[in-house]
Amino acid sequence: MTAEYKVLGEIAVITMTNPPVNGLGYSTRVGITDGLSKANNDPAVKAIVITGAGKAFSGGADIKEFGTSKALQEPNLLSVILALEASPKPIVAAIHSVVMGGGLELALGCHYRVVAPGTSVALPEVKLGLLPGAGGTQRLPRVLGVETALNMIVSGEPVKSELLASAPGQKLFDKLAASAESLFDEAIEFAKSVAGKPAAELPLVRNLPCKHPQGDAYFQFAKNMVTGMSKNYPAPLKCLEAVRAATTMKFNEGMAEERRLFTQLMLSPESAALRHLFMAERAASKIPDVADDTPQRTIKTVGVIGAGTMGGGISMNFLNAGIPVKILEMKQEALDRGVATIKKNYEAQVKKGKLKQDKYEQRMSLLSTTLSYDDLKDCDLIIEAVFEELGVKEAVFKKLDEVAKPGAILASNTSTLDVDKIAAFTKRPQDVVGMHFFSPANVMKLLEVVRGKETGKDVLATVMAIGKKIKKTSVVSGVCDGFIGNRMIEQYSRQAGFLLDEGATPQQVDKAIEKFGFAMGPFRMGDLAGNDIGWAIRKRRATERADMKYSRTADKLCELGRFGQKTGAGWYDYQAGKRDAIPSQVVLDLIEQHRKDEGITPRKISDEEIVQRLVYALVNEGAHILEDGIASKSGDIDMVYLTGYGFPIFRGGPMHYASQAGLYNVAETMRRFAKNPRDDGKFWEPAALIQKLVAEGKSFD
Ligand code: 3HC
Ligand code: NAI
Repeated sequence: MTAEYKVLGEIAVITMTNPPVNGLGYSTRVGITDGLSKANNDPAVKAIVITGAGKAFSGGADIKEFGTSKALQEPNLLSVILALEASPKPIVAAIHSVVMGGGLELALGCHYRVVAPGTSVALPEVKLGLLPGAGGTQRLPRVLGVETALNMIVSGEPVKSELLASAPGQKLFDKLAASAESLFDEAIEFAKSVAGKPAAELPLVRNLPCKHPQGDAYFQFAKNMVTGMSKNYPAPLKCLEAVRAATTMKFNEGMAEERRLFTQLMLSPESAALRHLFMAERAASKIPDVADDTPQRTIKTVGVIGAGTMGGGISMNFLNAGIPVKILEMKQEALDRGVATIKKNYEAQVKKGKLKQDKYEQRMSLLSTTLSYDDLKDCDLIIEAVFEELGVKEAVFKKLDEVAKPGAILASNTSTLDVDKIAAFTKRPQDVVGMHFFSPANVMKLLEVVRGKETGKDVLATVMAIGKKIKKTSVVSGVCDGFIGNRMIEQYSRQAGFLLDEGATPQQVDKAIEKFGFAMGPFRMGDLAGNDIGWAIRKRRATERADMKYSRTADKLCELGRFGQKTGAGWYDYQAGKRDAIPSQVVLDLIEQHRKDEGITPRKISDEEIVQRLVYALVNEGAHILEDGIASKSGDIDMVYLTGYGFPIFRGGPMHYASQAGLYNVAETMRRFAKNPRDDGKFWEPAALIQKLVAEGKSFD
């Protein structure tokens, strides 16, 4: 049981003890009901206090139990709350730190609530694609009013306890404790003040009225607002329906309606995707062979080499986190340009009201520049972001090896080069690691941490921790061409090219995948990033990987100088100063001529085929990446795609999506594609891992 029971004089205390956040899993629920019956059967006990040990009152239902039989096993959360309500002895919830989801619902089932200041109060279920399913939609409006409660339920955002406790007419909290430290004693005092009260006089939230003065009109207005905000996500509107039920139905009917809507959402693919995302995001920070307590190196100052596109953005991450940065360049002009860009970025944020002037000044004061490597000798972490040429990297790392202090972490932001080769330029390969930021580096959440074959475990642990500090989603990748993200996107881009060869247009491909939920299709994306980047990579491949076939359409496009938005023309035409992609007759003619040259008779291609070929290309390569040990778990691959490549969040990432579609179906579809190969004929052979999982009846998740 993960709840403890003790008696202090006439007060029984039930303490949830389920770290890290007292999730209301089966063993905690049993512990609570067990403590409750002990208290109610002990004539010496006159009142009960329920609280949580550690860093939360409770973070809610145990997310790890979702989808297992344990989640519903009696006593389930609803039964626990009913038992609290039915207690003939007063129950006081002593709430601190975090009270969320089922934790708040549990507290709302208690007779009284004493809260510590600074507590985060939320019903965040909507962020998991759910609604509060243990009475939250019925009870919260009764204590906070319909509008405040609805806002909290639809947004899922936490609100500080002192703010709620001071709201006029609120009945959520009976007392705001003076401090977190005094909470427990104050809750005991409160319990003593109500001890022995007759059962009939104990207040229950369910008995409070629940009405909105404008009724239908208000809910229509709220529906319009919520509909606008919740494209692709069913949960927010269902939250609204459930809260509305609280105002139109009797309490028990409203509870039944809440349960009906909750069950629908629990079975929805969107909720499965969001729950997967929650778990995968946290799991990404765990590296199988690196223990949680691996000692970390101290990072107090950061050096950045190169003040170009990436160096500037990378520096901003650390400045934002209050960590001093020294940027090194070859020439003063380059330094000045880099610093001016950083300033411009911050000033734009100040102008938009997103950053206060004093914060901006504070951040800039942490930035210094140099032309001399000697000035980097005190840096704890040095990140290189110079030109993508092995020779240039060699010179930089050899120099760093000379000047950096022992124990400094030497990182490369390379996107394509071999981190092991870079590490070998130094006499300290254990200190070398890849930190692959995505552009714009101050905005994009993803950080691929590239683990060389000699990278030290303490270096990895340190870099993962620093990634968290600068608010990145860090995912570990082994060394391979393109690491996780770009290695997969290459297969996606190849399929996009083959689709053009076979009969699709760029706009048809983009539209189909954007309808699936991608922020941008491959051709619009190419135009934005610059088609010349892929062209350069393909030229390199022509010698290195001659077996890998590509559609020649992209090369022919680049031969016309159509590099994308920056040249005013790419897969689409662009009007000066505008970003709208206009279908281009030149491109359509180019593709048609290309088909003639290759002797291809075009066919009509369905949107379904487009989506499957693009997404399953990611999936098959993702499976190879797992087989090769480049990623340690499929959730890591999903995190890369959700945070770095615009994969639709509500689909949970390519590997989760494939698991939901059923790997058997995915493999069969791949085999169908293999019958019409434009590639080397092998690409659509389902990866051995997929075949194994199908044979075992398993999925990636
Ligand atoms: N159940 C189980 N584990 C949980 C959990 C939960 N509800 N909430 C968080 N955790 C775990 C995390 O998985 C993580 O585990 P790890 O250390 O093994 O990786 C650990 O707690 C710490 O989580 P964070 O890294 O997120 O820590 P923070 O301190 O930044 O945040 C938090 C703590 C605010 C509680 C945050 O974790 C959070 O928002 N959790 C989700 C809360 C939530 O969504 N609750 C609703 C659940 S659904 C529900 O209650 C249904 C009901 O209505 C029927
Ligand atoms: P960039 O050309 O904008 O900037 C490179 C900077 O490095 C220039 O300012 C240059 O003066 C400086 N530089 C070159 N050699 C140097 C040296 N020996 N010492 C000090 N400074 C030197 O290039 P960008 O785009 O910032 O790329 C840098 C690195 O980041 C490359 O390895 C690239 O592959 C990688 N990368 C780039 C991404 C992008 O989208 N641009 C995304 C992820 C990684």
